[in-house]
Amino acid sequence: MDKHSPIGFFDSGVGGLSVLSCFKNILPNEDTIYYGDLKNLPYGDKSQAQIIGYSKKILDFFENQGVKAVVIACNTSSALAYESVKDHYDFKLYPVLQSCAKVVSSMPIKRVGVFATEGTVKSGAYAKEITKNNPDIQVREMSCPNWVKIVEKLVLDIDPEADIKSKLDEMLQFNPDKIILGCTHYPFLTPILTKFAPEALFINPADIFVEFIKSDLGENNLLNPKTTGGKEEFYVSANPEGFKDHAKIFYRINEGVGINLA
Ligand code: DGL
Repeated sequence: MDKHSPIGFFDSGVGGLSVLSCFKNILPNEDTIYYGDLKNLPYGDKSQAQIIGYSKKILDFFENQGVKAVVIACNTSSALAYESVKDHYDFKLYPVLQSCAKVVSSMPIKRVGVFATEGTVKSGAYAKEITKNNPDIQVREMSCPNWVKIVEKLVLDIDPEADIKSKLDEMLQFNPDKIILGCTHYPFLTPILTKFAPEALFINPADIFVEFIKSDLGENNLLNPKTTGGKEEFYVSANPEGFKDHAKIFYRINEGVGINLA
């Protein structure tokens, strides 16, 4: 593995740019390649077999690009595909869900709430991963089927704030010490969530995750030594124009950087 090689990031769409953004704040000199699987978006309501198929295809793409690591920025892929793909590639794989769960399981807390997509909640992966390391923590997982659409500003015949408040009220009855925003899009709802509960209650997995990646790359002597700022590339499986448009909510793509169709 070459420390000068790029790092791949993938998600079903633009949501994983929230992870890329946190990553770039901490490791600005790494070269990155981002892949948004817009053709198959959303992942949240797909079967496990479908998610494994999509994830393998993207990881094969990154293998051809010669990456040193891939960040699975999507919680649903981490929950449903990571276990099936993790031994098939030579590069390092960083799944957001497992890394976040590991850090949370070492916190001095008793009850953790998780908001995530239907697929992630059905898999029970957050509960499994957290209690594997700390069986004393109780985990309550809840799916929020409207929240990705709220962030993407898609048309919905509901009041977004009322929907968010009602889910949060239900979760607060569990009296959680922390709530994981376990979907790439949900951290963008923090301004609404914090109208009804303190900010310190919420965990954005990306914040925890990128610190973990940094230390792991360091331990494996894989940090890029260059000091001039990393190169960025973007690929999508469909709809480059739509990606560029939606990406603005999540990330500032530099002028002149194109969105390539993979
Ligand atoms: N990126 C997905 C996740 O983190 C959410 C969006 C989708 O359903 O595709 O679970």
